[in-house]
Amino acid sequence: MPLKTGRAASVPAFIVMDIIKAANARDSARAADRAMAADPATRTIHMEVGQPSTGAPRGVVEAAKRALDSGAALGYTEALGIPPLRAALAAHYRDTYKVEVPPDRIAITVGASGAFPLAFLAAFDPGDRIALATPFYPPYVNILQALGFRPVLMEAGADSRFQPTIAMLEALAAGPEGPPDGLIIASPCNPAGTMLHADELAGLAAWCERRGVRLIADEIYHGLAYEQPAETILRYSRTAIVVNSFSKYFSMTGWRLGWLVLPEDLVRPVECLTQNLFISPPTISQQAAVAAFDCHEELQANIRRYAENRALLLAELPQAGFDRLAPAEGAFYIYADVGHLTNDSMEFCRRMLSEIGVAATPGLDFDRGRGSRFLRFSFAGSTADMAEAARRLKGWRAR
Ligand SMILES: Cc1ncc(COP(=O)(O)O)c(C=O)c1O
Repeated sequence: MPLKTGRAASVPAFIVMDIIKAANARDSARAADRAMAADPATRTIHMEVGQPSTGAPRGVVEAAKRALDSGAALGYTEALGIPPLRAALAAHYRDTYKVEVPPDRIAITVGASGAFPLAFLAAFDPGDRIALATPFYPPYVNILQALGFRPVLMEAGADSRFQPTIAMLEALAAGPEGPPDGLIIASPCNPAGTMLHADELAGLAAWCERRGVRLIADEIYHGLAYEQPAETILRYSRTAIVVNSFSKYFSMTGWRLGWLVLPEDLVRPVECLTQNLFISPPTISQQAAVAAFDCHEELQANIRRYAENRALLLAELPQAGFDRLAPAEGAFYIYADVGHLTNDSMEFCRRMLSEIGVAATPGLDFDRGRGSRFLRFSFAGSTADMAEAARRLKGWRAR
């Protein structure tokens, strides 16, 4: 007799992970072929991955070594994280944004990924409607659906820099089900790399407070902004939930460490949820991360590289026919409208990978409707790789 599988078992794939698998398979095939392996022109250029190509800063690695050598058991920590790290984050908010956040409103999590289910489960009930703009970071929708919440998608285009607007929310609120229960925003966002500016953040925060809508702001790409610094929603809202992580600016993806800034009423619920779901975030990562706040000089060198990569691609991609690009104000992504080149971005990316070894992510991951005419380039890699990608793309498009 066939056994039952859960509703959440039908959660869609996170397509970029499949592209990464295909790009890695290409790398393995190349390594096994002597002639190809000897030819640098056949190397895969990884512009699909949304992670820094650098490791954790030196100070963090040294702190991790010290923790290992100390002979400490490195057992579980308090569920909300070690006090020195929560205090370091409170100081980070003071120094970076001039915003006071008491350490006891900060919860350390297993990456931003681990923060999402905690935030959603603490704030919403099954069936609740959570609004977000399309295109979006796919796990928002996939996690919401897996947990029994209802994502409500608001189509955003180049005219609003692919970000949500109050007009979109008003239109939703005027519909049969009224305003949503929650709103997720991200600035800078993935995939478009665009930002919500101070007046837009203030407007969205005020609208949500007026309508009783729980606002969740994904600030994971803070620190990676090229035109003006990103503003935290905490400046404009007392009730918003902030999600952030050590993965991007701090270049610590595999350390699996993130955090939530919570309004008072959600601290204890999140503590109880995380005790049960995770027990605690990784201990060695927490101990090492305290040192991350003394590593800004090294991290700024990464930012300078991203800025150089961004400038190079914004100048070169149009010469390869990719001339409809989102503004790329932050993060390390360029979202390209390729509707004039293809109506099947999945096949386009597959060909780009197999014919010239440049891996990028089809827009379908982020926008199930219009995504077939978009793709996302990540410029988190080396500047030499970006220059080589531009060279290959120009040659490819010329053919
Ligand atoms: C917008 C956004 N939020 C959250 C995450 C998850 O990050 P992590 O779990 O590594 O902290 C990512 C990862 O790419 C992302 O792009």
